[in-house]
Amino acid sequence: MKEIKAANNKINLFVPGRLCLFGEHSDWAGLQKSINSGIVPGYAVVTGIEEGIYGTAEKADVFSVTSRLPEYHGSSFSCEMDMNRLRAAAREGGFFSYVAGVASYICEWYHVGGMHLEITDMTLPMKSGLSSSAAICVMVAKAFNKLYDLHLNTLGLMNIAYWGEQRTPSRCGRLDQACAFGVNPVIMTFDGNELDVERITVRKPLYYVFADLMAGKDTVKILGDLNRAYPFAHNEMETRLHEALGEDNRKITSRAITYISQGDAEKLGELMTEAQALFDEKVAPMCPEELTAPVLHAILDDPTVKSLTYGAKGVGSQGDGTVQFLARDEAAQEQLIAYLKSEKGMTAYSLTLRPSAVVRKAVIPVAGFGTRLYPETRGVKKEFCPVVDKDGLVKPAILVLLEELDQIEIEEICLILNKEEKNYYEDFFMKALPMEHYNKLSKDMKAYEDKIRRISKKLRFVFQEEQKGFGHAVYQSRDFAASEPVLLLLGDTIYQSNTNTACTRQLLDAYEQVGQPTVAVHAVALEEVVHYGIFSGVWENKEETILKLTAISEKPSCENAKDYLAVSSRKQAENYYAAFGAYVITKDVYDRLGYAVEREIVNEKGEVELTDALDYVRKEKGMMAYIPDGRSYDIGNAAAYRKTVTEFGKQ
Ligand code: UTP
Repeated sequence: MKEIKAANNKINLFVPGRLCLFGEHSDWAGLQKSINSGIVPGYAVVTGIEEGIYGTAEKADVFSVTSRLPEYHGSSFSCEMDMNRLRAAAREGGFFSYVAGVASYICEWYHVGGMHLEITDMTLPMKSGLSSSAAICVMVAKAFNKLYDLHLNTLGLMNIAYWGEQRTPSRCGRLDQACAFGVNPVIMTFDGNELDVERITVRKPLYYVFADLMAGKDTVKILGDLNRAYPFAHNEMETRLHEALGEDNRKITSRAITYISQGDAEKLGELMTEAQALFDEKVAPMCPEELTAPVLHAILDDPTVKSLTYGAKGVGSQGDGTVQFLARDEAAQEQLIAYLKSEKGMTAYSLTLRPSAVVRKAVIPVAGFGTRLYPETRGVKKEFCPVVDKDGLVKPAILVLLEELDQIEIEEICLILNKEEKNYYEDFFMKALPMEHYNKLSKDMKAYEDKIRRISKKLRFVFQEEQKGFGHAVYQSRDFAASEPVLLLLGDTIYQSNTNTACTRQLLDAYEQVGQPTVAVHAVALEEVVHYGIFSGVWENKEETILKLTAISEKPSCENAKDYLAVSSRKQAENYYAAFGAYVITKDVYDRLGYAVEREIVNEKGEVELTDALDYVRKEKGMMAYIPDGRSYDIGNAAAYRKTVTEFGKQ
C-alpha cells in the first residue's frame, strides 16, 4: 500500500470554466431582493465546460502558487499562512489576488497549514467570459478541502470561492462559481442573500458551440447601466428590465430545465432565440451602446449558422463578447466550429452536455464459497437459498435480484461464477423446464416460468479462476463492462423498497444526477461498524439522501468510527453508514482494481478489496453515497438469513 500513500501526498485537480446558458444578470438582480422585497428571485442555468484549469497541490509551510505556463510570464506567488497578509494581497488586486483572497478566507475560518499549488495546464481562455478567475478560486478552495479534510460539500466550496473573490477588487457575480459542480448543468436560485443550487439531469446529448466574437465589450458599463434600475425601478424602461430579469426569466429558466431534462434540443434552441429576443426588447434599451451588439446579431442572423443550429444567444453580460449556439447534432457542431473559425475568424469551442452515462449493465459476483453458511453451501449455493417473495412464490434469492434488475430495465447481467458451478447455473437458467413439470404449474407460475426464460437471455457468465475476494471477482467483469458504468450487486443481498421505486432504480437515479461512482449505504449502529465497509461524508443535498464521501474504511473499530466516520444529520446527531449492497462503479474503479490485482495488493485474508479501490477513486476523482428509501436483507450468515426469511416479502 506504500505506493498509494506516496502518490497521495500530491493531489491532482481540475476545475472547468463555466457558461451561463440562461438567466444572465439575474444573479445580482436577485441579490437586490434583500433591499426590495418585491423583486422576483433570480434563476440561472449554468454549466461547467470542457475547458478548464489543471493543477497539483501538496501541503507546504507557506501558501504558494507557481506555474510554467506562458500566461504566468514566470511570475509566482508566495505568502505565509497569515490571514492579514493574504487579505492585503487580495485587496491589492492583480493576477494573484484571487488565490490570495480564497487562501485568506480559509486561513481565517479553518485550521489549516500552507499549500503549494502548481498550475499545470490551462485550456480555458482567460478573460473570455468563461470565468477563469472563478475557476482558480474554486481550485484553491478544493485543494485546501482535500489536503486538510475540511469536509466541505460542493456548495460550501462554491461559497468559499465566492467570499474569497469578494476580497479582491474584482466583482464577479454568484453564478461564476458554478464550475464547482463540474461539467454538468445546474439551476441556481438567487433569492436575496440566499443561494440555492440543484443539478439538472441531462437526458440526451446537447451539442453546444460557443465562440469569442472578437469584438469586445465593456462589462463595467453594462453592469453600471443596468444597475441604475435597482433596487427600485423609476420609469417604464426600468420596470421592463425588472420584468425581464424577474418573472420573464423565471418562466424561461423553468422551461429550460424541462427541455434539458426531456432531452428536447429543438425546443431548447428555440428558447435560446426567444430569450435573446426578450433581452433585446427589455434589457438592451438600458445600455444601447453596448447591448445593441451588431456583431452578435449579425452572427445570430447568419443563414449558415441558422441552418446548423436550433437556436443561439449571447453569453454572460451579453454585448459583443461571446455567443453560444445549440447545434442540431454532433456533425453540425463540428461544421459550425469550422465555419466560425475559417469564415468569421472567431475562436470557437465545443461543449457537449451528455447524460451521465445510462447504466445498462449489472454485475453480480457469486463465486464465493459462502463459508458462513456451511454446511448448507456444501451442496447448494447460498444465492439459491429460498425466500418467500411478496407475490407468495418461494424463490432462490438470486432470482429476486434478477427480477428487480429486469424490472428496472437493465439490459445485460454478468454473473461472476466459480468454474465448477458452470453447470449448476446453466441447468437452472438455460435449460427449459421439462414439459411434464411445466404443465403442472398454475397459470401464474407458468407466467413466472416464462419470465425466468426471458431474464435468462440477459445473463452472461464470467469465471473467477481463483477466489481472491470480492474486488478480484468484480475485476473479472472488466471486459463485460467495457468502460461503461455498471450496477454492482452482492449475490447474497436482496432489497425491499419502501416506495414504488425499486432500491436499485433509486440508486441509478442518484447516479444519473451526480455523475460520479455512487455507493448505496444505510445507517447501522455503532457496535456494528466492525462488520462492514463504512462510508462517511458531508450532505450534498437538502434532503440528506446524498453524501459527498470524505472517508471510506473497511471494518473500522468502534473508536475509530466514533472519532472519524460519524455523519450528523438533522434527524440524528451521529450516524454510521455501511454498504447497502449495491454500487454504481465506473472505469476508474475497474482501473484501480486492475492495479491492485496486478500488484497483489491484498488484505490479511489474501483478498483484493473493493473498498480500497473505491477509496482511491474517491480521493482522486470524488465519489458519492446514496441512502435508498428501503431495506437490504443479507442472506450470507445464519442470523441474517433467519431474519431475512421471517421478514422479507411481508407487505
Ligand atoms: P462474501 O464476502 O460474502 O464471501 O462475498 P463469500 O465467500 O460469499 O462468503 P463467506 O464470507 O465465505 O461466508 C460477497 C459476494 O462476493 C462474491 C460472493 O459470492 C458474494 O456474492 N465473491 C466473494 C466472489 O464472487 N468471489 C470471491 O472470491 C469472494
